[in-house]
Amino acid sequence: MNIFSLILFVFVAKSFCEKEEETLGTIIGIDLGTTFSRVGVIKDGRVQIIANEQGIETPSYVAFTGEQEEQLIGYAAKKQLTSNPKNTIFDVKRLIGRFYNDKIVQDDIRNWPFKVVDKLNKPTFEVKAGSDTKQFTPEDVSAMILTEMKHMAESYFGHEVKNAVITVPAYFNNEQRQSTRDAVNQAGLNVVRIISEPTAAATAYGLNKIEGARNILVLDLGGGSFDVSLLTVEKGVYEIVATNGDVHLGGRDLDQRVMEYFMKVFNEKTGKDLRQDSIAIQMLRQEVETAKIALSTQHEIKIEIKSLHDGEDFSETLTRTKFDKLNMDLYHTIIQSVENVLDDAFMNKTDVHDIVLVGGSSRIPKIQQLIKEFFNGKEPTRGINPDEAVAYGAAIQGGISGGVEIKRNGNRLVASTKTNIKEKEELTGDQEDQDKQPAENHHDL
Ligand SMILES: Nc1ncnc2c1ncn2[C@@H]1O[C@H](COP(=O)(O)OP(=O)(O)OP(=O)(O)O)[C@@H](O)[C@H]1O
Ligand SMILES: [Mg+2]
Repeated sequence: MNIFSLILFVFVAKSFCEKEEETLGTIIGIDLGTTFSRVGVIKDGRVQIIANEQGIETPSYVAFTGEQEEQLIGYAAKKQLTSNPKNTIFDVKRLIGRFYNDKIVQDDIRNWPFKVVDKLNKPTFEVKAGSDTKQFTPEDVSAMILTEMKHMAESYFGHEVKNAVITVPAYFNNEQRQSTRDAVNQAGLNVVRIISEPTAAATAYGLNKIEGARNILVLDLGGGSFDVSLLTVEKGVYEIVATNGDVHLGGRDLDQRVMEYFMKVFNEKTGKDLRQDSIAIQMLRQEVETAKIALSTQHEIKIEIKSLHDGEDFSETLTRTKFDKLNMDLYHTIIQSVENVLDDAFMNKTDVHDIVLVGGSSRIPKIQQLIKEFFNGKEPTRGINPDEAVAYGAAIQGGISGGVEIKRNGNRLVASTKTNIKEKEELTGDQEDQDKQPAENHHDL
């Protein structure tokens, strides 16, 4: 099924606007990702993923610089990772709501350039801010990123924003959800609703608005993690039947394969080893990621870096075929997870009605091809940028929670407003994850 050109029309009744002001006002949708975060809203009848000067995605990075105890967020933080590795925090989502002695935490700590200390079994970042040593919890650092999201939305609207829908991975347990909620509150936002990322992605495509029961496979391949979920939806009610994946498989791992290959080639050609040269590695990593992204639309790309290491230039061509070859076993791991999730859900591949691809790395043509082949030629649902689908769905959910009614008109989603203020008032308190509740049960006019 090919849904979309997704256009939303909002018919805003004046009386509704006045009443809305008294209740929740604007509700933003936030996708707090491991590598990138995004914020979306419904405005003027359309879903908008909000941009700042750097673009629509904000790297989930926070850096503390020596000067004036300054805090950098997003690209500004990511850019100085090489020069300030001990005070540049990333991957916070891997820590949130986990205990220090958790094996996953211990494994990650070994690979991070920044310091994580044990505070009553809570992993805590320790950085130099100005002349002081400071400690920040994962909630503190997430709140800094979320504050940036809030500010982006506020400068977009020109007024304060107080409410948000936030997404979390389907596999997040209660502690991880609660810590995420705490971080959102710390950023000065009321959590209207927490929804799972695959539910948000399916909502973005309005799959809960199609008549009859459906089985939906959502495959999310992001920057640092991979998860695949099998959802059912009936009468607007989503249920996550099974999830599978790997918290350590994402675009960054694909880049790492290319890095290993290029470092070997460089060594063979020049006799020099750049593994200990962190600046060279950072430069090469950036170019490799850019090349990988280009290879999703072209078949080969030349990478040239002047004086990469010890006066030696770097000049290599990377083809799509080579890239795929370097990563083929990881692609097979992905397909294996799809098989596993179907097994866990007691379903066959032919039972799947919709395939939703999410996450920047799902743009890779070979991955798309392997998924299509696995599903006997079935096309994935298309129309929304895969890396924006979660924020997109969160924005729609924010609109719904604020009183916008979403209906399906052919292949389009149409938004209109409802006037049942009482039900909206009930939403002002924090809500539990409502995946299992009818996504539109409080929206019937
Ligand atoms: N066109 C493209 N082709 C291949 N990879 C891409 C493309 N565009 C983005 N990526 C990769 O997608 C990744 C980022 O994806 P996304 O923004 O979905 O991550 P995320 O949601 O923050 O991560 P996670 O799901 O792990 O929390 C990066 O590794 C980036 O290099
Ligand atoms: Mg993501």
